[in-house]
Amino acid sequence: MKGIVLAGGLGTRLLPLTKITNKHLLPVYKEPMIYYPIKTLINAGISDIMIVTGGNHAGEFLRLLGDGKQFGLKHISYTYQEGEGGIAEALGLTEDFADGDKIVVVLGDNIIENNIVKQKEAFERQKEGAKIIIKKVPHPEHFGVPEIIGDKVVHIEEKPKKPKSEYAVIGIYMYDYRVFDVVKTLERSERGELEITDVNNYYIKNGLMTYDTIDGWWIDAGSSHDNLAHASQLVIKTGANKVD
Ligand code: G1P
Repeated sequence: MKGIVLAGGLGTRLLPLTKITNKHLLPVYKEPMIYYPIKTLINAGISDIMIVTGGNHAGEFLRLLGDGKQFGLKHISYTYQEGEGGIAEALGLTEDFADGDKIVVVLGDNIIENNIVKQKEAFERQKEGAKIIIKKVPHPEHFGVPEIIGDKVVHIEEKPKKPKSEYAVIGIYMYDYRVFDVVKTLERSERGELEITDVNNYYIKNGLMTYDTIDGWWIDAGSSHDNLAHASQLVIKTGANKVD
C-alpha cells in the first residue's frame, strides 16, 4: 500500500499566517503540521509516501523534509499542484506514483491522537473499493457528513446546513486503483474544486464503500485559527500519533 499526504492550497482560512508560508508548515506545538500526517502513514506501516504540495512555498517542503531520513524513510516522492483545484484534483496527480496499488490518503492538516493500524489492516483484507473513517464531532456542519442507515453510510454531504448525523468524515481515506478513473469523471463544485466527497459518494453508490471509526481525538488543524491553537494544546496534553 502507498501513502499520500495532500498539502497544497493557499490556506486562506489561516491568513495572515499563510501569507508567507504554506499552512502545512505552520507549527503544531514542537513540529511543523505536516510531520503528523506523515507519522500517521509511517505508524500504519506505509513507507512509500508522496507529498502533493502547491502554491508559492512548495520548495520549503523539500528543505524541511528532504529525503525523509528524519522519519527513517529511504526517500519521499513529491509532486506539485497548480492552483486551488481541490483535494480530489490533488489526488489525481498521484496516479503514476500509485501505479495500481491501494492507497491511503491523509490530508496534511489532519492530526490524530492514536493510529490507523486496525483500519489499514482491515482495508488490506478488503478485496476492492474504498474505506472512510468517521468520528462524532460537536459541529458536523463544518465537514463532510455521512448519512447512516443501519450499519451503512448511504451518502455524504459536504458541509451541510442540516447535518444528517453527528459524524464527520475525517481526512484519512483509503482507495483502490479505480479512484483515478473516478476523479476523471468529477465536475467542479460551487467552490470551484474537485471534491473528495464526490469521490466517496461514487464508491458508496456502487456498493464499494466501508467505514470505520477511530479512537482518541482527531483534529482538522488547518481549518481555523482556533483549531490550529487547539491542535497544539491537544498535542501538549496527550501527545499525538501514539502507537499501541
Ligand atoms: C475536507 C473535506 C471534508 C472533510 C474535511 C476533513 O474539508 O472536504 O469532507 O470532512 O476535509 O478535514 P476542507 O478542509 O477542504 O474544507
